[in-house]
Amino acid sequence: MSKMLSNIALRNLLQKTSQIVASSCNKFSSNITAEAYLSPQSFNDGLHGVPGHNIDTPHVPVMVNEVLSMLDIHPGKTILDLTFGAGGHSRRILESCGDVNVIGLDRDPVAFSYAQKMQENFGQRFTPLLGRFSEVPRLFQQHGISSVDGILLDLGCSSMQFDDASRGFSISRDGPLDMRMDGTRFPDQPTAADVLQHIEEHHLAKILKYYGEEKQAKKLARAIIEARYMFKRLKTTSELAYLVESVLDTEKRLDKLARPTHVATKTFQAIRIFVNNEINELNQIMEIAHKVLNPGGKLVVLSFHSLEDRVVKRHLVGIDMDEPASKSMSQKYRNAFNWHNPDNVGEIFNKNWSVVNKHVLTPEFNEVESNPRSRSAKLRCAIKNQNNI
Ligand SMILES: C[S@@+](CC[C@H](N)C(=O)[O-])C[C@H]1O[C@@H](n2cnc3c(N)ncnc32)[C@H](O)[C@@H]1O
Repeated sequence: MSKMLSNIALRNLLQKTSQIVASSCNKFSSNITAEAYLSPQSFNDGLHGVPGHNIDTPHVPVMVNEVLSMLDIHPGKTILDLTFGAGGHSRRILESCGDVNVIGLDRDPVAFSYAQKMQENFGQRFTPLLGRFSEVPRLFQQHGISSVDGILLDLGCSSMQFDDASRGFSISRDGPLDMRMDGTRFPDQPTAADVLQHIEEHHLAKILKYYGEEKQAKKLARAIIEARYMFKRLKTTSELAYLVESVLDTEKRLDKLARPTHVATKTFQAIRIFVNNEINELNQIMEIAHKVLNPGGKLVVLSFHSLEDRVVKRHLVGIDMDEPASKSMSQKYRNAFNWHNPDNVGEIFNKNWSVVNKHVLTPEFNEVESNPRSRSAKLRCAIKNQNNI
């Protein structure tokens, strides 16, 4: 990729990212900064060095029983699996009911090849689609699909992506600093190495802080920029991992199961989220999901870190991006003495979603033990309201 192309693509990505960080986290009130709204709650989606993770299994589906029971699978229904991965959830949905159909989408060409294989087993009951969430309207039009009866989103990376060193997601397996979930589908899309080569220091610090919840974001950003002059270019995952290790305090970091994690886990996650524009994609698919789901249909979302969950929650409970996050619809209209104009009343009765589980569901202890990737999973489910089409 020429330096100029990479710069243009990077600038577009930065622009979109700052928009979404602003709209998903920062609009509690116009004069308060984004930092004030992002809680210090840590997340860790990496599998690096996680004991119990089996590289022979492409990807173990998370909370599969809960997903199946939430989705209400019935004969003749069509379920859209927006994050096909290795097809673990799709397969279980197809096997759970002889007459259900599944559409399996993924942006990753490797996952798409798995999906094409699955079609050999399930024939017309399964439709594989290659594309990003934001491409769903175009793909539906191309394939003559108008609506679906249930939708599943299982966010983040698959084990297949983490385990393949050549994809550049892994701290423990050395490979090129790539991290593009789309592989080479979009040759102009900046890789992680391109981002680190061209990004400005203050932008990098924000990415590390917001997407990685890295407490030492500024110090790390400074070191990465300085490394450009020393190494010229950070090219591999181990170069980045060593750099982070050498810069950050060597205090032991623990995951949610209190097991040691690599000090660069948050850095890798932040850069991956940025490279793949993950939060913006999520924000878009929450809108699109509401458009393509039939009234009464269910949306099930598995998220793995607090920023993702916050975007999902805001859509499901109907918090306007310009509203303070603490004000849900019910809080806003709790005071019976308030006068409500017709617009207010319309707003109350025109809610997009009815939330099924008020509090997130989390995996059982046994599942976390046998599949450590499930440890930070949060499941939310909502029904598309009948009166809102
Ligand atoms: C956690 S994995 C899903 C695993 C899957 N449920 C299974 O059981 O094998 C998430 C998948 O979503 C895909 N993905 C993430 N963001 C996406 C997006 N914006 N558009 C399409 N696919 C996306 C990733 O490529 C990855 O394969």
